[in-house]
Amino acid sequence: GKYRVVSTKSMPGTRWINLLIEQDCRLEICTEKKTILSVEDIIALIGDKCDGVIGQLTEDWGGTLFAALSKAGGKAFSNMAVGYNNVDVNAANKYGVAVGNTPGVLTETTAELAASLSLAAARRIVEADGFMRAGLYDGWLPHLFVGNLLKGQTVGVIGAGRIGSAYARMMVEGFKMNLIYFDLYQSTRLEKFVTAYGQFLKANGEQPVTWKRASSMSEVLQEADVISLHPVLDKTTYHLINKESLATMKKEAILINCSRGPVVDEVALVEHLKQNPMFRVGLDVFEDEPYMKPGLGEMKNAIVVPHIASASKWTREGMATLAALNVLGKIKGFPVWHDPNRVDPFLNENAPPPA
Ligand code: GLV
Ligand code: GLV
Repeated sequence: GKYRVVSTKSMPGTRWINLLIEQDCRLEICTEKKTILSVEDIIALIGDKCDGVIGQLTEDWGGTLFAALSKAGGKAFSNMAVGYNNVDVNAANKYGVAVGNTPGVLTETTAELAASLSLAAARRIVEADGFMRAGLYDGWLPHLFVGNLLKGQTVGVIGAGRIGSAYARMMVEGFKMNLIYFDLYQSTRLEKFVTAYGQFLKANGEQPVTWKRASSMSEVLQEADVISLHPVLDKTTYHLINKESLATMKKEAILINCSRGPVVDEVALVEHLKQNPMFRVGLDVFEDEPYMKPGLGEMKNAIVVPHIASASKWTREGMATLAALNVLGKIKGFPVWHDPNRVDPFLNENAPPPA
């Protein structure tokens, strides 16, 4: 191979590997056992000559790494993730390195995890499972693990991009919830969907579902029964959910976070969970990943999973493939996908999975 491409992790599937090898690349996959690579580890991987790198969201892609990559002749970097808060895009630009991410292929998979956590929290599934396994079940009782009925309640979505919209659609259609959403941009497609579904229900003699675009985030927090967070993490969304905003939420609300940990002030959240036993959360991401803030792991009203929202086989293989195409595209002179809002017809979330 003429080009040297480094992947800081082994990734699912073989398509991404074959794509690179068939196109004149020598691929080096890091076999280091530790989960999170340091900047020094990655500098060593880059070495003297490296045309492109596929990296992970656990890595700190700042000026130091882009300088090293540029010095080694590198032109391309792709995060194997849709989120790229771990990447300093300005630094990459400064060193002439193009940056790619992997949107589209993880939309439905991530929304499905947010929906799973919503249901698990509403019906206290993890708590109830623990109860069974502990041998505590000694007969049916009217009060045993009573949870929330979603039908007719309001789902609140903060950040109605691809993932937030897919989640909203699932909750509205699947559970006949009303929608309130907050986003800087109007989601016409989502609004039309809820309107049409509401008309369908009405025509069938059922209570129609409704939608509302909130004029502020606090409106969503105050009105919704289930709230799911889907913004990108940046300065404006850091600690979006904090002591003050938690206090405005319903006492029995459910909060889901499959975006990025620092969107929630986790210390304030633990305190709120302690004070409000009927308030429940489902978390896929954490402020100091892989750690949890003290007390969170002991809360019965919290469900915690290890950043697995995009973890379906099809999606992870798709992310690896996209990341490889990003790097390959730049090396070969094709455009790199670095606009997280771009909709590519070939990566439509409704497209069937590859055979
Ligand atoms: C995962 O968190 C991603 O951003 O893809
Ligand atoms: C964010 O990237 C989204 O797809 O919602």
